[in-house]
Amino acid sequence: MGRPKVRAAATSVYHRAVTQLPDRNVQLRDATDEDIPALLSLWKDENVTASLTDSPAAVRLAIATATAVLVAVDDGAVIGCLIATFDGWRGNMYRLAVRPPHRRRGIASALVLEGERRLRAAGARRITALIESDHDWAVSFWERAGYELDRRMGRWAKML
Ligand SMILES: CC(C)(COP(=O)(O)OP(=O)(O)OC[C@H]1O[C@@H](n2cnc3c(N)ncnc32)[C@H](O)[C@@H]1OP(=O)(O)O)[C@@H](O)C(=O)NCCC(=O)NCCS
Repeated sequence: MGRPKVRAAATSVYHRAVTQLPDRNVQLRDATDEDIPALLSLWKDENVTASLTDSPAAVRLAIATATAVLVAVDDGAVIGCLIATFDGWRGNMYRLAVRPPHRRRGIASALVLEGERRLRAAGARRITALIESDHDWAVSFWERAGYELDRRMGRWAKML
């Protein structure tokens, strides 16, 4: 007997609408510009690796252009999020986080499943996620979500 698990929004009824999940009052929906301060504090508070794009302008651009910026909301408060993007070649996932009191209830899994659904619908056939290898909890989560470390590849980056 485990805890009741939230499940990703039922596949056919999401359509960019608020979706009720069967755990407390948690819902998944698309982020709006009004969520930007909550997203930035979520990432800061939960030690999601700091990024060059942790700014209101960059998050506004992501909301406008990413395949999906998803938020999990409990009673109006943003308690989880995920950015999912398809660039025409690969799908990518970024900035997954869930507030501590809401963890281990399947909320991140629901966000990832919905992100996968959006990316598949956009045309993606393969999804990658950047995960810090010494963040054991994150490695465990992504393994459980079905993702495998590609040992042949490294991340190469250049600042613009
Ligand atoms: C990683 C994180 C998003 C997981 O969120 P969550 O909503 O608790 O995840 P879920 O409840 O969907 O977990 C699903 C499964 O992932 C694994 N998992 C999740 N958190 C874990 C942890 N802390 N340690 C080990 N395994 C974990 C478990 O197998 C879990 O299933 P179980 O609860 O039946 O054991 C959350 O811990 C978090 O926000 N951490 C800080 C930010 C971060 O590291 N983000 C990841 C960036 S790559």
